[in-house]
Amino acid sequence: MNPTYKKLMRCYDSLRALTDFKPQLALVLGTGLGNFADKIRVVQTVGYHQIDEFPISTVEGHKGQYVFGYVDAVPVVIMQGRVHYYEGYDIQEVVLPIRLMKLMGAEILMVTNASGGICERFHAGDLMLITDHISSFIPSPLRGANIEELGVRFPDMTDAYDPVLRDIIRKTAQKENIPLQEGVYIQLPGPQFETPAEIRMARALGADAVGMSTACEVIAARHMGMRVCGISCVSNMAAGMTGGPLLHEEVQQNADQVAPRFEKLVQCSITAIARSI
Ligand code: HPA
Repeated sequence: MNPTYKKLMRCYDSLRALTDFKPQLALVLGTGLGNFADKIRVVQTVGYHQIDEFPISTVEGHKGQYVFGYVDAVPVVIMQGRVHYYEGYDIQEVVLPIRLMKLMGAEILMVTNASGGICERFHAGDLMLITDHISSFIPSPLRGANIEELGVRFPDMTDAYDPVLRDIIRKTAQKENIPLQEGVYIQLPGPQFETPAEIRMARALGADAVGMSTACEVIAARHMGMRVCGISCVSNMAAGMTGGPLLHEEVQQNADQVAPRFEKLVQCSITAIARSI
């Protein structure tokens, strides 16, 4: 058996021994949304350290647990804290938690993150509906022998971000009076922030926001046939766009300030998505 699949199955067995919760929707909490799980009806939490062989995040400000519960009537699993490629994990390890949530039963994935704004029309504090991504600068999580149990060798990535879900989020934002930008997210490897020249390159390639997560997770989710949507919090304008240096603390602080709006949009969107299925 493929070693990546074998490990996934061991994690699955270990998690199933701790909970039999069956989520409908999986939500990954990015920087700034870390406390969203406090707002839901929690049924159970499982620390990542409780799951055999599960990759544990080393980033400050990232809690490491799955939270199982309900947003309104929707059974959800929330990833409070994710692992990043820049932490040194293989890209297959980075996406293991996503694959596990699909195996638990989640058919829909909502990803959130903080990003640097590349589009000149954006401002720090904007929320951006992710319409597409560029993952060309990171290795594919599907590299190596295909895991036939999970999906096909050459998965389609047209409409990776489900047009129906995008429409629901767009309409939800309008209804709730929450301004929402739209654009293409580029995942770069990090952990250093980009140079201004890299940001000009990313803009020329068609990217509107840059971050160090998400695209690899979405590839793994699409491989397994999940329907995906994503919202990014533009926590800062990208390197070279404001004159000043970029500091992680500022990214975190700005993201925290946007949190109430971000939480509202996520919560209302999940409810609206649940009504549509
Ligand atoms: N670059 C990369 N990742 C980020 C940024 C950025 O400017 N802001 C938040 N995450």
